[in-house]
Amino acid sequence: MTLAGLPEAVRAQAAAQGAVRYTSPEGDLYLVVHQSGTWRVFVNECPHRHLPLDRAGQVYFTADRTLLVCVNHGAKFHPLTGQCVAGPCVGKSLQRVPALEESG
Ligand code: FES
Repeated sequence: MTLAGLPEAVRAQAAAQGAVRYTSPEGDLYLVVHQSGTWRVFVNECPHRHLPLDRAGQVYFTADRTLLVCVNHGAKFHPLTGQCVAGPCVGKSLQRVPALEESG
């Protein structure tokens, strides 16, 4: 399955908001990110305590919208590389899922 196979509502929400939580039919949790015309899909699991980054489906960004923020303890991640650049897991990264991505 590629990003084109994701529900239209998920792609539309990610495009509008920059990122959205997606739960696959198999129950796997992902973050679908759309930044600067590029799509990324990450496993929705913070490398700090292995919890989802979102709260009730809402994915948060820094005020300037340049970094994803984990709601649990405030780790900040680059939205395209998934690298943690601030907070308790600096140097670790979200797990990217290239098989679910496509350009666009
Ligand atoms: S679980 Fe994400 S910062 Fe702690």
